[in-house]
Amino acid sequence: MEAAVSEVIAQKVQGDIVELGVWRGGVMVIAAAVLHDLGEQRNLRLFDAFEQIPGYGSASNFLAVSEAEVRAAFDDFGLQGPHIHFHPGLFKNTVPLWDVSNPIAVLRIDGNFYDSYQDALYYLYESVPVGGIVIFDDVMSHNDVMRCWNDFKREQGLVENLNQIDMHSAWFRKEQKVKINWDFFRPPQDANIN
Ligand SMILES: C[S@@+](CC[C@H](N)C(=O)[O-])C[C@H]1O[C@@H](n2cnc3c(N)ncnc32)[C@H](O)[C@@H]1O
Repeated sequence: MEAAVSEVIAQKVQGDIVELGVWRGGVMVIAAAVLHDLGEQRNLRLFDAFEQIPGYGSASNFLAVSEAEVRAAFDDFGLQGPHIHFHPGLFKNTVPLWDVSNPIAVLRIDGNFYDSYQDALYYLYESVPVGGIVIFDDVMSHNDVMRCWNDFKREQGLVENLNQIDMHSAWFRKEQKVKINWDFFRPPQDANIN
């Protein structure tokens, strides 16, 4: 995230810094610190249930962190501010409210499930301008996430390829504008069942 934020600032790619799947907020605190150090103002958008969600099994308690706890993490580093926006709730309920004309310079998705990635990509990908950076935290380690990426890339005709970061994550820079074709949007299969 640190490199991605620095890069979009250096390249003057317009737009917000967005993470879906925030947990304790560490990645977005780092993003806020980088912006602070660079003397730059961008909106930070944090999307998460901020409570237990179905599908995590024995990890569900561990992964359930409240919005108040994440706000406190920004306070601890003196990085709280009006440019930090919380979007609490399941992605399926929050991302459809996004105004697609609002650009996203960095889109980081860390949502573990097919449904979570599908919601993020279908509703937000059009908002990433060419030159914007997309990061998938768990695409190399979660088969369902890789399946979602492969479906999305093939069915929406994306030309971009993933650059692997480590055993979990990968990134790419958007090269081509696309208009999302909703014919391929799949019914709930994991996080959105129930
Ligand atoms: C692995 S954690 C994120 C870790 C964090 N990005 C980090 O690097 O420290 C996954 C997060 O995604 C959230 N999440 C996954 N799918 C979601 C969905 N469909 N709607 C809302 N939140 C979701 C969970 O609540 C959890 O906080």
